[in-house]
Amino acid sequence: MKLIAERTGRHVLSLPSNRLGLYLALRHWCVPGQRLLMSPISADEILFLVLAAGLRPVIAPLSPRDGNIDATRVDLGTVDAVLTTNLYGLPDDVSAFAGKVLVEDVAHAMETDVGGRPLGTFGQAGVFSLSKHPGAGSGGVLAVEHASDLEALTAARDDLLARGSVWADTMSVATSMVRQAALKFDLVRPALKLARALGLQEEREGFRIALDPDGLESALKHVPALPPFDPWVRADLHRYRARRGRLAHWYQGRRVAKVPGERARRLAGVQRLAELPTVAPAVLDDLSRPLFRVPLLVRDRDAAIAELERHGVATGYLYDPPYDDYAPAFTEHSPDPAPARWWARHVLPVDPMYTARSLPILRRLEPPTPLP
Ligand SMILES: Cc1ncc(COP(=O)(O)O)c(C=O)c1O
Repeated sequence: MKLIAERTGRHVLSLPSNRLGLYLALRHWCVPGQRLLMSPISADEILFLVLAAGLRPVIAPLSPRDGNIDATRVDLGTVDAVLTTNLYGLPDDVSAFAGKVLVEDVAHAMETDVGGRPLGTFGQAGVFSLSKHPGAGSGGVLAVEHASDLEALTAARDDLLARGSVWADTMSVATSMVRQAALKFDLVRPALKLARALGLQEEREGFRIALDPDGLESALKHVPALPPFDPWVRADLHRYRARRGRLAHWYQGRRVAKVPGERARRLAGVQRLAELPTVAPAVLDDLSRPLFRVPLLVRDRDAAIAELERHGVATGYLYDPPYDDYAPAFTEHSPDPAPARWWARHVLPVDPMYTARSLPILRRLEPPTPLP
């Protein structure tokens, strides 16, 4: 919290997850029925919390350079607000959205600056996730410009918080510690097997959770309201709006405090991965960005994931297919869906903190057939 407040110079609100913060920001700055421009490529829960806020998701064309909104090809006159993704830490073109209500999802971009200014300080709100760079398992921070907004946002958060549980906090801290240890001691394969055997992984259809269009239609009758959308928004983090106690906050604080000390190692990993011929072009724009993941674009992505897993490297944060293919009845489609489909099929996000194990495999991967 303190670190994010200092970094952004903003007023901050502590949350059990980033996704709750995004919902609160959209409810605070938008009115149900408004049109929200968003990328087709982001985590499943983001689409559902936009729907829960009563907004119309207008899917933007995607830039195949960075996997974010292609700001040169959007008609801002047709939307009321914009939600950026800053995918894997690569910045959206924030300057292009000046004058619009802008909510920045900086889950992946905790350490990304644009022109010397931290992401998360350009819009009305920036929302951080403590489970990304810090690896705290859960936690979010909403950063806003004006203290006057914080009062209403705090009240809205408190209305939505579900009861906490010391036992559940203990389990989630322990799970996060085991995950960190598995990464450190090269035990990812057995840890993945165990997680699958214990049913700790969310059921998925490909990379996305099941859509359940009928259930979604029923939930939409209650908008704006978050609880009816819990079955979708809670993907991979069932306690996304559960109040956290002392232990969880202590652990989150400890993990966040480690982030600055890990910066040099993260940057070294980014720079090593940037030498690969498969690296996404925008990574090369600025090699001083401590990215959350480094996106490569590879011919046979799914085979690469399997090969990496055989060598103890797990791949996450895959958002395939794009939202307008995933939930066609619930989105306004992108005017040009091809770049997003291409990106979703070929992107391989790589953790720059653990490149020693992945690089020998990554060096053998070939770029995809270019987008026509
Ligand atoms: C781009 C993006 N935004 C937001 C989130 C949600 O973060 P949290 O789990 O803290 O709610 C995720 C989680 O994976 C994400 O990848």
